[in-house]
Amino acid sequence: MTQPAQNRMTAFDTLRALAERPGGRAITPLFASDPNRAARFTAAFGDLTLDFSKSSIDDTALDALFALAAAAGLETFRQRLFAGEQVNETERRAAMHMALRAPADSGLKAIMPRGTENAAAMAGAERDKMRAFVEAVHAGTIRGATGQTFTDVLTIGIGGSDLGPKVATEALTIGSADVKMNAHFLSNVDGHAFAEIQKGLDPARTLVLVASKTFTTLETSMNAAAARAWIVGALGETAVAAHFAALSTNLKAVAAFGMHQDRVFAFQDWVGGRYSLWSPVGLVIPLAAGWDKFQQMLDGAWAMDCHFRDAPLRQNLPVLLGLAGIWNTNALGCATQCILAYDDRLRRLPAHLQQLEMESNGKHVTLAGERTGWDTCPILFGEPGTNAQHSFMQLVHQGTRPVPVDFILAANAGHDRPDAHRALAANAFAQAEALMRGKSETEIRAEMTKAGASQADIDAIAPHRVAVGERPSNTILFDRLDAFSVGRLIALYEHKVAVQGCLWGIDSFDQWGVELGKQLANGILPQLQPSAERPGAQTYGHDSSTTALIHRFKTLRGEA
Ligand code: F6P
Repeated sequence: MTQPAQNRMTAFDTLRALAERPGGRAITPLFASDPNRAARFTAAFGDLTLDFSKSSIDDTALDALFALAAAAGLETFRQRLFAGEQVNETERRAAMHMALRAPADSGLKAIMPRGTENAAAMAGAERDKMRAFVEAVHAGTIRGATGQTFTDVLTIGIGGSDLGPKVATEALTIGSADVKMNAHFLSNVDGHAFAEIQKGLDPARTLVLVASKTFTTLETSMNAAAARAWIVGALGETAVAAHFAALSTNLKAVAAFGMHQDRVFAFQDWVGGRYSLWSPVGLVIPLAAGWDKFQQMLDGAWAMDCHFRDAPLRQNLPVLLGLAGIWNTNALGCATQCILAYDDRLRRLPAHLQQLEMESNGKHVTLAGERTGWDTCPILFGEPGTNAQHSFMQLVHQGTRPVPVDFILAANAGHDRPDAHRALAANAFAQAEALMRGKSETEIRAEMTKAGASQADIDAIAPHRVAVGERPSNTILFDRLDAFSVGRLIALYEHKVAVQGCLWGIDSFDQWGVELGKQLANGILPQLQPSAERPGAQTYGHDSSTTALIHRFKTLRGEA
C-alpha cells in the first residue's frame, strides 16, 4: 500500500473507532450537553446555511475529519483544481468547469497536455456567442425555415447533457411569469419518448439543440437523426440549417451531421459532462428563462467557487458538507444518501445529483491504481418533499439501516400561498427532528395509555410504533430559490463531490465504468437485427443467458 493510502487508512480507522465509542452514534446527547451545538455546527455563506448539527459528529470527530482532510492534502488539491492542473489524472485533463461561470478576465486556465489554455477567456467568448444567439431568437431575428418565430426548444442529450440543463431550466421557469420559450428534453432512446414530445410540438416553431460533449453517444445520435427526419419530413431538407444547433466539443462530428457553423457552440474537454450545464450544453436554460437569469445562475455558481477556493476549511460549506458525508459513509457505514428538496422546482435535483455524485465518486481504485481499503460514494436517491414522506420515508424512519438525509429548503417561496409554504417547511423541519429524536416504547406506551388503549393493544402495537431515532441529516436553508441561489446550490454539491473524491483518493472526474456496457451494447445491436440479415451468426459469442435472451427477444418479435 502506498504511503498516501496508508495515511488515509489510518484516518478512516480513527473515524470508525470514534463512531464505535460508547454512544458514538448518538446525536441527542450532544444537544443535551451543548446548548450552542446548533450554532457551532452550522456554517453560513451569505443567506445560505448548512446545519450539520443533527449528526453524531462532535468536536473530536470533527478534528479527526479535518485530520483526514490534511492527510489527503485537501488544501493542495483545492489549489491544484483552481490552478487548472490535471486533477482528472486518468484522462490527463484539468477539471475547469469553474471557468464557465468565472468572469472572462479572471485568468482561470486549464493546463492540458496540448498546452495551457486561457479557459475563462475561451468560455467568455463562447458565452458572448450564446448570448447573441439567445437574444436573436427571443427578438425573432433568428427564425425557423417558414419565417415563423421559435416558441419551443427541444434539447436532445443524455446524462450530463440532459440532467443539469433540465434541473436548472425547471428551477428557473416553474412558477415564473416570464418564460421565454417552452423547453422539452429528449434523452432516452425509447421511441415512446420522442413520440410523446412530438405530440405537442409544431416543427415550424421548434428549435432543436443537439447536446453531446462527444457527439458519439448512441442515444443522442439516434434521437438527433429521428428529430432531423421529423423536421425534414415537415419542412424539407433545407430547414435543417435553420432548426438545429449543436453543443459539443467534437467539432468534426458536428460538421458531419450537417450543422451550420453559426449554429455550433463549442466547449472544451476540461469540462466534464456532469459539469457542463454552465457551458453551451445549457443553452436551453437562457432560451427558456432569459439571458439575465442564466447569467445570475452563473454568478451564483461563481460565488460558491470563490467561497470554496478562499474560505478556511472550517467555515467552508462544500468542505463541511463533504466531511459530514464522509462521517456517515466511513465512520457509520451508511451506504445511502437521500436528497429531499422541499421545492417542486427542484424536483429533478436528485436525478442530477445521482449522476454528479455517483458517476464522479462511484470508484473503487485510488489514483495510485490500488483498490481503496474504504468505502466511497453512497447510493443517492430522492424525491421532492413532502411527496417523499408518503412513499419511502417510512424506511428512513424505521428501516433497519440509517439513511442520512439532506433537507433543502428556501424560506421564501415566491408564490402567493404562504400557508402552503409554511406547511412545506414545517414538514421539512419535523422530518429532520423526528429522525433524530425518534420515539421510545415508553413514550408510546404512555401516549396509548392516555388515549385509553387496552393493555393488550398497547402490548401488541407499541413495538411497531417505535422509531429508534439518532438518525443523521443536514439541513440546507436559504432565502429564496432564484437563479443566483440555484447556481450556488448546484456548485455547492459539485465542490462537495470534489472534496470527497480527494478524501477518498480517487479520480472524481473520469467515468470509465460506463464504457464496458456501451461497448457490449454496440456489439449486441447488430445481433438484434432480424436473423435473415445475419445468416449463421446465431451463437453471438455470449454467455448462455445473454444468448438465450437475444433469441427470446427476437422470437417474441417474430424475427428469430
Ligand atoms: O455514459 C456516461 C456519459 O459519458 C456521461 O458522462 C455523459 O454525461 C453522458 O454519457 C453523455 O455524453 P455526451 O455528452 O458525450 O453525449
